[in-house]
Amino acid sequence: MFTDAAGELPSTLSAGRIGIRLIRRRDARVLERLLRENREWLSPWEATYPGVPGPNPGDVSLKPAIKRMRQQHAEGRGVPFVITYDEEVVGQLSASDLSRGALWSASIGYWIAGGHAGRGITPTAVALAIDYLFVSIGLHRVEICIRPENAASLRIVEKLGMRYEGRRLRYIHIDGAWRDHDSFAVTREEVQGSMLGRLERLAG
Ligand SMILES: CC(C)(COP(=O)(O)OP(=O)(O)OC[C@H]1O[C@@H](n2cnc3c(N)ncnc32)[C@H](O)[C@@H]1OP(=O)(O)O)[C@@H](O)C(=O)NCCC(=O)NCCS
Repeated sequence: MFTDAAGELPSTLSAGRIGIRLIRRRDARVLERLLRENREWLSPWEATYPGVPGPNPGDVSLKPAIKRMRQQHAEGRGVPFVITYDEEVVGQLSASDLSRGALWSASIGYWIAGGHAGRGITPTAVALAIDYLFVSIGLHRVEICIRPENAASLRIVEKLGMRYEGRRLRYIHIDGAWRDHDSFAVTREEVQGSMLGRLERLAG
């Protein structure tokens, strides 16, 4: 059953120093700074719009985008999180394309500031998000689509033991062109216990 509503999300879902929480309007400034400072780090993996040059992320106010994301959340169409480390915002994680009906599925995307990479922050954040989507929202399936060139992101799904489903050719417009993506998924019945537990077991 879909039980989530804007006000019902716990303030922070956390595991040790790593947390995720719903994005707020006042996160705009720190996210804009991170996007500016990490432009080179993020641009090969950033979604773009075909035929529309668009501004560089970080050069425009994020407040309208955050407002849209929170509106989508209130309507049950997405869950926009920030990723925190010792309560400092270090990246973003979004569950989008939330569908119910006969699917009960969502797609997850994420990024973290280069200075915080390599500490296992994102795999934990993704595990927390999937547990939330399965347990609190009641979704059945979560997928993550990754460019085959993105070795760091492929490690995330590997660490989480997500199932490879196949390659989608020229699937998403990234960094100025249509790019192939490998699709990975997990369904609720595949998880014994929690995704966080599974991440720890697979690391063990
Ligand atoms: C993909 C990404 C989210 C991984 O997050 P993370 O919190 O660093 O994840 P991890 O700490 O588990 O590291 C994953 C892998 O990244 C690589 N890595 C680690 N430190 C790194 C660094 N400083 N620079 C580049 N890659 C690094 C390693 O291969 C690591 O695997 P390992 O743990 O087996 O050594 C992050 O690299 C990122 O934000 N990249 C740019 C945006 C992006 O690619 N988003 C995903 C689009 S699908």
